[in-house]
Amino acid sequence: MGVGVRLFKTTAAIRCYLEKNRHGKFVGLVPTMGALHPGHLSLIQRARQENDIVIVSIFVNPLQFGPTEDFQKYPRQLEQDGQMCQQADVDAIFAPTPEEMGTGQNIAASSPEQTITQVVPPATMTSVLCGLSRPGHFQGVATIVIKLLNLVQPERAYFGQKDAQQLAIIQRMAADLKIPGSIIGCPIVREASGLAYSSRNQYLTDEQKQQAQVLYRSLQQAEKVFRSLICDRASLVGAVKTELAKVPDVQLEYVELVHPNTLTPLDDVDEVGLIALAARLGNTRLIDNVLLRHRKPIIAIDGPAGAGKSTVARLVAKALGLLYLDTGAMYRAVTWLVLQSGISVEDEPAIAELVSQCLLRFGEDSSKIWINEHDVTQAIRTLEVTAKVSVIAAQPVVRRELLRLQQSLGKKGGVVVEGRDIGTHVFPDAELKIFLTASVHERAERRQQDLKNQGLKEISLEQLEQTIIDRDAFDSTRALAPLRQAVDAHTIQTDSLSIAEVTDRIVSLYNQKL
Ligand code: PAF
Repeated sequence: MGVGVRLFKTTAAIRCYLEKNRHGKFVGLVPTMGALHPGHLSLIQRARQENDIVIVSIFVNPLQFGPTEDFQKYPRQLEQDGQMCQQADVDAIFAPTPEEMGTGQNIAASSPEQTITQVVPPATMTSVLCGLSRPGHFQGVATIVIKLLNLVQPERAYFGQKDAQQLAIIQRMAADLKIPGSIIGCPIVREASGLAYSSRNQYLTDEQKQQAQVLYRSLQQAEKVFRSLICDRASLVGAVKTELAKVPDVQLEYVELVHPNTLTPLDDVDEVGLIALAARLGNTRLIDNVLLRHRKPIIAIDGPAGAGKSTVARLVAKALGLLYLDTGAMYRAVTWLVLQSGISVEDEPAIAELVSQCLLRFGEDSSKIWINEHDVTQAIRTLEVTAKVSVIAAQPVVRRELLRLQQSLGKKGGVVVEGRDIGTHVFPDAELKIFLTASVHERAERRQQDLKNQGLKEISLEQLEQTIIDRDAFDSTRALAPLRQAVDAHTIQTDSLSIAEVTDRIVSLYNQKL
């Protein structure tokens, strides 16, 4: 392993490393069992984008393997994994022994479930899908994940959507046990053939790898049926089975339609559904899934200050008949509420209580905003609100609550949202992500023109350029909601484009997505 990434094998060492380095920095954790592949890499890259310190844990967890499963055979390749982490700019790998993690060497030999405290997720979530053939598996996963979260105490922990049942159970556990920090689900990464990356793909022969491509093909058939607005379980599951039957060596264990969060079986996809399957090829067990969603797409527009995001977002929303989720107006509405209630703007616990209970909504065409049923469209533009909005918006509790509100307003889709971390943090699953940018010189010229139009005092271009450079540096490094470009964002460089051209480009990208 090269220099750069640190390797720790004991809990004492990882604790000490974090104590020495944390100092208010954001820590991202990527829990893995090693044998890292591009799917893991996408989690690591996301963690790298969003955090100051990135820890990858590598631990083949005996608790989650049944007595006849592949615990002994599971690929262990620490040297190779270390190199991958090094290249991906990981700060530290935590690779403990089973003894160090207090799990025992082997689930069959030491019966650790009898001797250690374990986390028992709700039976409704563990007795379906993979839980049917892997009793105890999710209890083992939940137990080790809690241990890792307690040890590292990350601000964010990243899990792949390929293990959709695992992700749903961990999200539920984190919510039920009030685990601080966010559990972030990341999209499935596939080989060009459509086969989802998995450490267990190593077990497949070349022929089996070819045959395994039918898994995703079968899920795509279900997607096709869904797009034709047929949403019942029998048709969707039937489409998967028909396609799978074309490759008889693939033995289907299950294919089910469930709700992706609760995992309860669905008869129809009302808003969202998950089609998940498990199948065997020889001795290798593979899983895959797709999300089916009725919602209209979400458009996330991020970019530096002065790139024209809010003007463009408004125009795109208008052109496509979507809601412009004006996050700036949301912060102003909360500020109005705080001022109105007479609470001091410094009293964060009282503000937390107020904001966590408030009701916020926009009018149909986004031009009006209500908070607790007061129409505050005009009131949020007063000088009093303008003077206090940045103090309120800088409070982590306000940002957390507004993030929750934004996500719940956007849940059904059909929104355009702009900001600095919309595509990476607020709506990481947005269907269309745009990174709108312009050179410093161009933004300075635009600002100079704005000042002129408003009849304000002229400021030299050099001075404006310096202000923009300073603002960019501040926005990219600030602890709260720093400017981040999503890996899957389309960059639009607007220097030589008019506002109408930028809008058209986004509208046509949106139409291609549909
Ligand atoms: O997904 C995995 O690799 C494992 O189940 C996890 C989350 C690292 C727990 O051992």
